Amino acid sequence: MTVAEMQNEIMRLKAERDVCILAHCYQAQDILEVADYVGDSYGLSVQAAKAKQQTVVMCGVRFMAETVKILSPEKTVYLANAMAGCPMAEQMDKDYIAEVKKQYPDHAVVCYINTTAALKTICDVCVTSSSAVKIIRKLENPNILFIPDCNLGDYVQKQVPEKHLTLLKGGCPTHAGVSEQDTLSMKTLHPNALLLVHPECRPEVVAQADFVGSTSAIMEYAKRSDAKEFLIGTEMSIAEHLRYECPEKRFYPLAKRLLCVNMKCTTLPDVLAAVSGEGGERIELPEDVLTGARRCIDKMIELG
Ligand code: 13P
Ligand code: SF4
Repeated sequence: MTVAEMQNEIMRLKAERDVCILAHCYQAQDILEVADYVGDSYGLSVQAAKAKQQTVVMCGVRFMAETVKILSPEKTVYLANAMAGCPMAEQMDKDYIAEVKKQYPDHAVVCYINTTAALKTICDVCVTSSSAVKIIRKLENPNILFIPDCNLGDYVQKQVPEKHLTLLKGGCPTHAGVSEQDTLSMKTLHPNALLLVHPECRPEVVAQADFVGSTSAIMEYAKRSDAKEFLIGTEMSIAEHLRYECPEKRFYPLAKRLLCVNMKCTTLPDVLAAVSGEGGERIELPEDVLTGARRCIDKMIELG
């Protein structure tokens, strides 16, 4: 089958089987073209709650499919490729954080959405890159244990100095792989380019940025800006999509190693198999995890 034939078959099956396809912005262009909604983690979770279809296929990573299931437990939810996990989400488990919490009994526990559903059950609220500053600012407790991403935590701390954030040593291996030197070299090579970065990047990279935001926010900023050249400090698919959408502008990934293999393992044939009901992984979560994690995600939607 050609790409176009596969896409047509996916569109036909979506209508016939009442399926909604949600795709994170890091997915490949051929997948974005068949998706009902494309967005960042926050947008995907809001959209998941709104979707009218009975079945949802998530083209992204596991915690995103878990979030859909938590928000719509009555729906059938598939992760399009069962291998797609987020390494950051797997860095800290529930038992470890339960022990850490004992050291900080007066702290509110705020987790990044890039965590497992099981871990969310013992956190007070979760946040995404686009909602973290707003939500943490609104919390009553001045002391926050923020997990797992210390780079995002550092960024939030600088935006919300009235709070005290305790950070652990977690983070995204893809974004944290970009160094200050990579950034200086790329700025020298492209002196007229604006630097747009994701807050999962290291503080010394974020400090040099013209704009810091989520994946969707970076795309929106670049599309609206009058500038003609941009260095993109997030997974390289964002620079690729922007080249496609704004052919008159120039986009350069901030480093060659900005590649998330987990986000890239989902392919169009995986999506076709999942929409047909013959592939992907059906997400099932125990009742106590669904209820506990739901409280944490509902709080995010309420405050965000
Ligand atoms: P966004 O919420 O910005 O889409 O981030 C998700 C993610 O995994 C970034 O690496
Ligand atoms: Fe996880 Fe980083 Fe990949 Fe995002 S880019 S899914 S945080 S490993």
